[in-house]
Amino acid sequence: MQYLVTESKWNDFRKVFTETAKNYNSIAIDAVAFYVIKAAYKCFGKALRPRYEERLSKHFNKRYYYKNMLKSLISLWYLEDLGVLRKNEHVIDVGCGGSPSILAYMIVQKKEKPLNAELIDKSNCQIAIAEKLLGNNCEITTHVHDFSFEKSNFTNNSFVIMSYFLCEQSKHKIKNIVEHLEFGENDTLVIDYRKNIEKLHKKLRIPKQKKLYTWSLRTALPFDITLAAGEGSIHVSGLYVKSTEGS
Ligand SMILES: C[S@@+](CC[C@H](N)C(=O)[O-])C[C@H]1O[C@@H](n2cnc3c(N)ncnc32)[C@H](O)[C@@H]1O
Repeated sequence: MQYLVTESKWNDFRKVFTETAKNYNSIAIDAVAFYVIKAAYKCFGKALRPRYEERLSKHFNKRYYYKNMLKSLISLWYLEDLGVLRKNEHVIDVGCGGSPSILAYMIVQKKEKPLNAELIDKSNCQIAIAEKLLGNNCEITTHVHDFSFEKSNFTNNSFVIMSYFLCEQSKHKIKNIVEHLEFGENDTLVIDYRKNIEKLHKKLRIPKQKKLYTWSLRTALPFDITLAAGEGSIHVSGLYVKSTEGS
């Protein structure tokens, strides 16, 4: 489905893009490796389970940071337009990478005071980039470990984001994510390849006290933003499970 974004929303993105660009530009990479990694993701992206050491983390974020941020942002704007997005003080980014999703959530929140963000990633190089790019916009707590919902002790009523985390998980972890979405007490946004979202959707048995929303959207970008995203349009598939208690 085509999803149109208003100029005032694009201006909210432009503001944060300008604020973060200096730190983003300071991430130095070498051009040849950048194109090799870009080509590898294009060919094998859906099957990759890479280890994000320093060089790969830098290259991954150089290529995907703003593109993935726009995917989260467009999904959040869409949910906001539907009138179903919960705006929470406490947000948890699972498999955060450079954490573009937290910045997207911050844009939608439009709050002056910093967000309370928990960043989880098994790569400390990714977490270091996230801390650099988020700057003073958030009060950050970081956890560097191989994440599993079985072992997590999340604060209830948090907003949980998983952006391109699902695609790197084993069958066992996916089962664990399904259980969390069915029984957990948080609102959860999942963004991933369309095929993975459809598979996840099929597995879910959502109880009455929760609501499920899914989407597959295409949004054309204004010319200046195509330069940030490295694409002329953004295609995003996602799923949102909202706990209806207390809403
Ligand atoms: C494809 S990247 C996505 C990063 C970011 N969320 C984005 O949208 O740009 C996946 C991230 O998940 C992390 N990751 C994958 N499996 C993990 C696990 N089991 N526990 C913690 N982090 C994990 C990787 O280290 C990597 O940073």
